[in-house]
Amino acid sequence: MNILILGSGGREHTFAWKIAQSPKCKQLFVAPGNSGTAEVATNVNIGVNDFEAIKELVLKEAISMVVVGPEDPLVNGIHDYFLNDEAIKHVAVIGPKKIAAELEGSKEFAKEFMYRHNIPTAAYESFTKETVEKGYAFLETLNAPYVLKADGLAAGKGVVILNDLEEAKAELTRMLVDAKFGKASTKVVIEEFLDGIELSCFVLTDGENYKILPTAKDYKRIGEGDTGLNTGGMGAISPVPFATDEFLNKIEDRIVKPTIDGFKKDNLPYVGFVFIGLIKVGDDPKVIEYNVRMGDPETEVVLPRLKNDLVEILETMSNGTLDTINIDIDERAATTVMLVSGGYPEAYEKGKEITGVEQIQDSIPFHAGAILNDGKIVTSGGRVMAITSYGDTYQEAIKKSYQNIEKLHFDKMNYRKDIGFDL
Ligand code: AMP
Ligand code: GLY
Repeated sequence: MNILILGSGGREHTFAWKIAQSPKCKQLFVAPGNSGTAEVATNVNIGVNDFEAIKELVLKEAISMVVVGPEDPLVNGIHDYFLNDEAIKHVAVIGPKKIAAELEGSKEFAKEFMYRHNIPTAAYESFTKETVEKGYAFLETLNAPYVLKADGLAAGKGVVILNDLEEAKAELTRMLVDAKFGKASTKVVIEEFLDGIELSCFVLTDGENYKILPTAKDYKRIGEGDTGLNTGGMGAISPVPFATDEFLNKIEDRIVKPTIDGFKKDNLPYVGFVFIGLIKVGDDPKVIEYNVRMGDPETEVVLPRLKNDLVEILETMSNGTLDTINIDIDERAATTVMLVSGGYPEAYEKGKEITGVEQIQDSIPFHAGAILNDGKIVTSGGRVMAITSYGDTYQEAIKKSYQNIEKLHFDKMNYRKDIGFDL
């Protein structure tokens, strides 16, 4: 079959790399793609939210499956768009419908879902401009640090954690009254601070059945020792060494099962990936957030460990037979280190030539913010390239990634040299 992947990051290059290995995939397209996807697929210069152009492409190239990488088109209803159009309703769209994508699109929706289904999460209340005074009063009942979350999508910047009560109140004013995050902060969720170590769990579902993929841990801060500003992710490791079988069973029983049951009970049509952001508090898992897609850079360590034919799995997801699949996972650890543009996550320059990629041995360079320009690979974003390696241990894998990074260069290249330091 012909398949289209939507997106242009390291996650989408990893999907393309994996799907291109499937004998079931005839032609593979990526929109808009990057220099990495160009190696294994045909890039088409269409934005992920341009549904009309996507439809035209699907019809022109006889595409029968669309794999949606980022959350934006899902929250904007791309799955519903396909189902509501006679010409393309037969196409398998991997990703939830708009109503279910609200699990990522609205923090309040996600919290209400978790409360309704007794899924362990931080206590919370939500507020609007009209109830800002109640918000101040609620903050006074909490202990520091204070966690404030813009309800809507805010490009990963909508969560603010503050130690000082007065600062937290001022931030609440900025979010609700001064619309700091625009429409995204029309509502703000204030929640109890959870103290623990984070990890991510990835679940596949056809709406009825589910399968759990390996866990991963990503490194969100720009600076070594988990310091400095939050980024989209600076590196990742899979599996997570502290996720013992006992802990994984707790995740499945207390979180994964009630989540999938909750989709059914609430009539949330869900075919796709569920990314559950977790925090280990004491010995217990609690949910920090749901995302309705795979993580980036977690995908760069999770998919390389999947031994199955991914297209076969995606087919069973779209036709409701995921229960017939046995997920086969590579025992080895996988790690990835993200190379970023100097200055990221603040202002940075683009268009820098990346050299040395062809010298990489025994690691896989997944391109992210990198495009082809006159036959050269040049930077086009903050996160530029994720260098993934396998190893019998994560220490061995990470060493390979760092050895290969020595061969790579672009002006003002930056990366964290301590991925895995805390494990
Ligand atoms: P989110 O966008 O909801 O994943 O939040 C971004 C980051 O903020 C998370 O990855 C955590 O590091 C942190 N965070 C969110 N909620 C909490 C909480 N209730 N307690 C502690 N940290 C949190
Ligand atoms: N790595 C975190 C995310 O994809 O949201």
